[in-house]
This record gives sequence, C-alpha cells and structure tokens, in this order.
Amino acid sequence: MKKSHLIITIILLSISTIYSQNKIKCIPATNFQTVINGRQTSLYTLTNSNGMTVQITNYGARVVALWVPDKNGGFQDVVWGYNSIQEYLKSTDIYCGPIVGRYGNRINKGQFTLNNTAYQLTLNNNGNHLHGGTGGFENKVWDAKFTPINGNQAVTLSYTSPDGEEGYPGNVIIHVTYMVTEKNELTIKYSATTDAPTIINPTSHCYFNLTGTAANTILEHKLKINALKYTPVTKGLIPTGELLHVKGTPLDFTKFTAIGKSINVTNEQLALGKGYDHNYVLNKKLGKMGEAAEIYSEQTGISMKVITDQPGLQFYSGNFMDGTLTGKRGDIHAFRTGFALEAQNFPDAPNHTNFPSAVLLPNQTYTQCTSYAFNIKK
Ligand code: BGC
Repeated sequence: MKKSHLIITIILLSISTIYSQNKIKCIPATNFQTVINGRQTSLYTLTNSNGMTVQITNYGARVVALWVPDKNGGFQDVVWGYNSIQEYLKSTDIYCGPIVGRYGNRINKGQFTLNNTAYQLTLNNNGNHLHGGTGGFENKVWDAKFTPINGNQAVTLSYTSPDGEEGYPGNVIIHVTYMVTEKNELTIKYSATTDAPTIINPTSHCYFNLTGTAANTILEHKLKINALKYTPVTKGLIPTGELLHVKGTPLDFTKFTAIGKSINVTNEQLALGKGYDHNYVLNKKLGKMGEAAEIYSEQTGISMKVITDQPGLQFYSGNFMDGTLTGKRGDIHAFRTGFALEAQNFPDAPNHTNFPSAVLLPNQTYTQCTSYAFNIKK
C-alpha cells in the first residue's frame, strides 16, 4: 500500500472510531418538571471532569440516568430509567432507581414489635411488607438542593416522613446526598433522625446493565461478592433467620462468576426467587466501609465496585420482570435484563435478634455511605 493510502486509511479509521463512540445524551430537565401533590419535581444533572454524568429526580430521590466511560472511549448509560416523570408515575411497582424505605426489602407479614408495642405495616407483596409499602419513599417528592462537596458536584434530597406513614412509628427526617467524584464514583450518603423509636433501612434501588442497554440480558456479567454466607429464604422470600455458607452452592460468588453460569440449576433457593434474589452477609466489620461486590461486562469493559458500610447486599437478578414496561431508548425491561445490588441491613432484621439491629432511637442519627465506583476492566 502506498504511504498516502495508508495515511488516508488511518484517518478514516480514526474518524469512524470517533463516530462509533457512544455519546452522552442527557434528558432535558423540562421532562421532569411538574407538580405532584402541590410539590415541584425536577431533574438534576451532576458531572465530573471525566464526563461521567448522573441525572437524578427529586421524585423518589431517584437515579434516572448514569453515564460512565466504556472501553471504546465513549460512554454508556448503565441504569434503567424513563424519559419523563409521566412514565415514572405509571411504573412505580418495579422500583426503578429510587431510594426505597423506610425499610428496604421485606418484613414478614409487615409486623414487628418495638418496646412491647406491636406495629402493622402496609402489606404490598404477597402478604408481606416490601420497600416501605405502597406509599414509600420512592413516590414522594423530596426537597432538593445542589450541595457541592470539595469541588465535587452533589445534590442533597430531604424528606420528612410523618408518624404513622405506612404504619411506621415516629416522624423521620431523612437526607440523601448523591455525589459524583473525580474517581468516577457515585457516592450516596444517608442520614436520618426520628422523634420516637422506630426502624429504618433505606437503600438505593437501581437496575444496572453494564452493556448500556436492556436489549442484552445480564447473564454474561461476571460478578464477585465479598460474602461467605447468605440469609436463606422461605416462601415469599422471607429469611429463615439462618446464615448459611455459599460454598458448594450456586449462590457462591466469592470468585468472579458469570451470573448465568448456575442461575438455572435445580436449587430450592433459586426456585424461590426464580433466580438470585438473596441477601449476602458481607465479609467485613460492621459499620466500616469495605468492598461488597465487583461486577463487569466484557462487552463494554465497564466494571462497577460496590463499596459500603452496610452489613448486607441484596443481589437481585431481575427475575420478576415480564417485559411489559419500556424505558429510555426503547429498552424493554424484560426477564433478567437488569440487576440490582442493594447495600442494606438484612431483610426482616426487626424479627431476628441474630441480625444487625435496624432500630433508630430519638437520640441517635442513622447514617449510611455506599459508593458505586466505575472503572475500565483491563
Ligand atoms: C427484591 C425483589 C423485588 C424487586 C422489585 C428487589 O429488591 O429483592 O424481590 O421483586 O426488588 O420490587
């Protein structure tokens, strides 16, 4: 090949690479501007100098889009979401991206006892309480303000949950700050106080697909969870109270393993969840920040680490999705096309004395810090 031809070929190849790079397409804030129960909703965009971009609405303190760098020099939006507030109003039942609570995950029959008083929470999941009930945090309009921290862009969302809401005691004030760091982390800090003894366990409920589209299942993703034990469940996905070893079971993710490798084997736990829908007992000191999990997609090269101070991590492989909802870019939210890794206390902790306490007293402040850190897998 002549030198001039070679140069032209190289230029054309470079141009085509630039054009094939996936670009960030932000959702306009106007798509989220409406009034719900007299309160204004909007969309807040946070970025860092690498271009990582997260979009958050104060409707449910919810992540709507999360663009992170991929191995081709472009960006992928790695979370499920919808283009407008109207679509969220139609689809709250799958908990797409919000902070869920007051109690993320399940409480058996919605019942617990605190200081000799029995409480009954809303039942919204096969006779049990799930993710704070039908009127939980995910469909409230939170207050929002930009709160930059050490040069990092951040937004703080606040909500006051009145005494008795969904059956929970105490007036609870909760603040959640989302921050994007220069190390490509999305860090979520929570704090909450109460004026009467109560229980609390909020968590972020994003559905991820690191290929950047729900057109692909999540079965090829390689996952590692820093847990030797999990909390097995019985019917309705309620913990039995035991902590069992993952070793020798399809729930073992102590080494990188494709989600799809054993998801269809005959196993009582997998049958109960129609796949993975289990709380892992994190192998680290209670209350200390540590790595909970890492997951990556070879297709995009995107790796995500979950770092948290929480004792548990719920791994849900999107088993109850039936494809009836269509999200951004026409993505059909179908069976196993999104996964959730929810840092939290154990499910049903208020009913198991051997689980970490979920009690919050008036003189205490609940705190949580969880980071989703993105890198390119070499
Ligand atoms: C739960 C699933 C539930 C999903 C949507 C997950 O956190 O573990 O069982 O179907 O949320 O509600």
